[in-house]
Amino acid sequence: MNKDFLWGSATASYQCEGAWNLDDKVESMWDVYLHENNLENGDNASDFYHHFEEDLLQLKNGGQNAFRMSLAWPRIIKNKEGEVNSKGVDFYRKILQCCLDKDITPFVTIYHWDLPQYWEETGGWLNNEVSYAYQKYAKICFEKFGDLVDLWVTFNEPKWFVSSGYLIGNYPPAHKNPQEMIIAAYHVMLASALGVKIFKEGGYKGQIGIVHSFTPVNGVDDSLETRIAMRYADNYCNNWILDTACQGEFPIDLLSELNKKFDLSFINIKELDVIKENTVDFIGLNYYARALIRPYSNGETVLVANNSGNGGSNKVIIKDWFEQVFDDPDAIYTEWGTEICPLGLEQGLKEVWNKYHLPLYISENGIGVREDVTVDEVQDDYRISYMNDHIAAMMNAMDDGVDMRGYFAWSTFDLYSWKNGCEKRYGLVAIDFDTPNLLRKPKKSYYWYKEIIESKGKKI
Ligand code: NOJ
Repeated sequence: MNKDFLWGSATASYQCEGAWNLDDKVESMWDVYLHENNLENGDNASDFYHHFEEDLLQLKNGGQNAFRMSLAWPRIIKNKEGEVNSKGVDFYRKILQCCLDKDITPFVTIYHWDLPQYWEETGGWLNNEVSYAYQKYAKICFEKFGDLVDLWVTFNEPKWFVSSGYLIGNYPPAHKNPQEMIIAAYHVMLASALGVKIFKEGGYKGQIGIVHSFTPVNGVDDSLETRIAMRYADNYCNNWILDTACQGEFPIDLLSELNKKFDLSFINIKELDVIKENTVDFIGLNYYARALIRPYSNGETVLVANNSGNGGSNKVIIKDWFEQVFDDPDAIYTEWGTEICPLGLEQGLKEVWNKYHLPLYISENGIGVREDVTVDEVQDDYRISYMNDHIAAMMNAMDDGVDMRGYFAWSTFDLYSWKNGCEKRYGLVAIDFDTPNLLRKPKKSYYWYKEIIESKGKKI
């Protein structure tokens, strides 16, 4: 294993920062949606805003050499006119400098779902203008932080925020409209390419990639019908993001299928050229589960989401295309119904490498569990076993020639898990949200991960 291999852990701005209205930060679509609907919110989250030095020291002491974080657009840009918030910029520069001082490589996501509300009010990702606003925001990020960052990510998990926000309706803006999902998907992939374009044109140092919620697709049998259903599922789960970001093209068979039922007249040829010419340098894969697929049988449901929020496969049924099933008798599941399947990761990494030949990172991997964090040390042997098996799967893929560059556990410490609030815990470090100063205590897995890193993954 290369000595520069990144062993780290991951966070996201809204899920950890807190300080939702401090230092001139404006509202994101999540702030408004959660406040208006009176849902558990991330107003304080893990209060990383005030704890980042302590948290990064702990990450370093845990043997990790990389930290995945995201920048909050509404903390950096105050309004549609593009006014920069210098306090927001200072905050992120301090975090990044703190990483570098400790020899921690920052892996920085430009957009992890917290769209400024002022853009949501113009139609959000349904509005073509927002793709270009994203490009301007990305340029500000490169200018303000480019001296401190080598690894940039345009978007975190387009599939999740687009499908949950515009089709399933369990994330803001909480619409349930397949035509809108397609428009939003197009605008997000366009924005990603516009971000890559401005990055390359600006000659900034480092590399730029995309992070995808990776769902390798398996079939219930080997029949032709199942293989056709698997292709539909792969297009829905993976290809519209990865083909587009890595090869510069939406899958042609997906477009022709969509064209039968939806209006695709919003697609602009010049923008397709931008997508074609501005592909990413690397891929980050967030891996939680695979999907087991059979051909669509019947029923009126277009898409069913179970209530797992995020971090597992929602049950997906696309009429006339495919159904995701949960009938593998050998499968085991988390308490949130996410299948645990390390083999899916090993096979999936090989498939992605063979298809795109780009450097790969596991940008998230972890298990969400209800835990009692009032004890001195959470004995999370289930997390150790989960990570152990997934890291072993990654090492197998590397032995088979896959160009892996890093592994990030989700998450660095307990944080706010979107619609699952704070009770779905993923952290290597426990946070007791009931204590006034949000007391942090490393879990057993934190020390175990340190040993794995010291042995370069060999101790498995
Ligand atoms: C993926 C997302 O990037 C992250 O925001 C989420 O909390 C985790 N999965 C776990 O569900």
